[in-house]
Amino acid sequence: MDKKANSIIYINGEIHSPENAKISVFDRGFLFGDSVYEVTRTYDRKVFLWDEHYDRLKKSSTKIGMHLPFSKVFLKNEIEKTMERLQNKEVFIRVIVTRGEGGFSLDPSTLTENNLIIMIKEMTRYPECWYRDGVHVIIANTHRTNKDSLDPAIKSGNYLNNVMAYMEAATQNVYDSVMLNSEGYVTEATTSNIWVVKGNEVITPPLKAGILEGITRKTVIKLAKENEIKIVQRNFLPAELINGDECFLTSSTKEIVPITKIDGHPVGDGGPGPTTKKIHELYRSFISQQ
Ligand code: PDD
Repeated sequence: MDKKANSIIYINGEIHSPENAKISVFDRGFLFGDSVYEVTRTYDRKVFLWDEHYDRLKKSSTKIGMHLPFSKVFLKNEIEKTMERLQNKEVFIRVIVTRGEGGFSLDPSTLTENNLIIMIKEMTRYPECWYRDGVHVIIANTHRTNKDSLDPAIKSGNYLNNVMAYMEAATQNVYDSVMLNSEGYVTEATTSNIWVVKGNEVITPPLKAGILEGITRKTVIKLAKENEIKIVQRNFLPAELINGDECFLTSSTKEIVPITKIDGHPVGDGGPGPTTKKIHELYRSFISQQ
């Protein structure tokens, strides 16, 4: 399948077909991963939780010492303008801001302007079996980057660490990898936050474990509180994940995905559990109210 099918790319104010979307080899996003990005999607053609995504984009750029010259409203307009080209379609949206084009060196002082790229792709339906039967994951040997080196709270273009963990999962023919931090605690999956249900508690690693503060994670915490589901944010080891009653992943694009096997061991009774299903129902109803 052509992964570029039904997509449209905006670069610095101009809209291109995917074949004609080109960026300089001197762009620092390409050279060093020196960029920040966000991924969201539409529901009913509305950009989902844009304010939250913009705020995180802003936080990421501040954390890498990059001024973000684009406002929330400006970016939303540019996204909507680009989306127009894929009419009547639900779309996947990736907004990238790079530090711009420089020379060969790391020194950013010769830079001119940021590059702004908006990638819009038709949203294809994810396999029904992910939600019905759950997915299988492994605990990766590749650890999540340390907070003191490249803070996972920054959604930067430097995802090599996650790419390597993902490749471990692909080699074993499973859906994804769970990454640990240098202390051996669970952090997150390569593009999702992770949760384990044990008894009446829904447990997720704290921000200090070194994770991205997921927007879906925040929403799930809010919905759980409103519905008297007990959320606990604390460190835990992979054994706790494997011995949980239920596990699941959260992300803006895929919503709530049950995990039913970890390193070959079934989680709980081996099928998506009632709390995972309940949280997905609450999340779907939240989506319909946006
Ligand atoms: N990924 N953790 C990581 C490392 C992520 O890259 C993501 C998002 C999440 C979930 O965050 P949110 O709920 O805000 O989507 C957690 C997006 C979907 C991506 O890079 O494609």
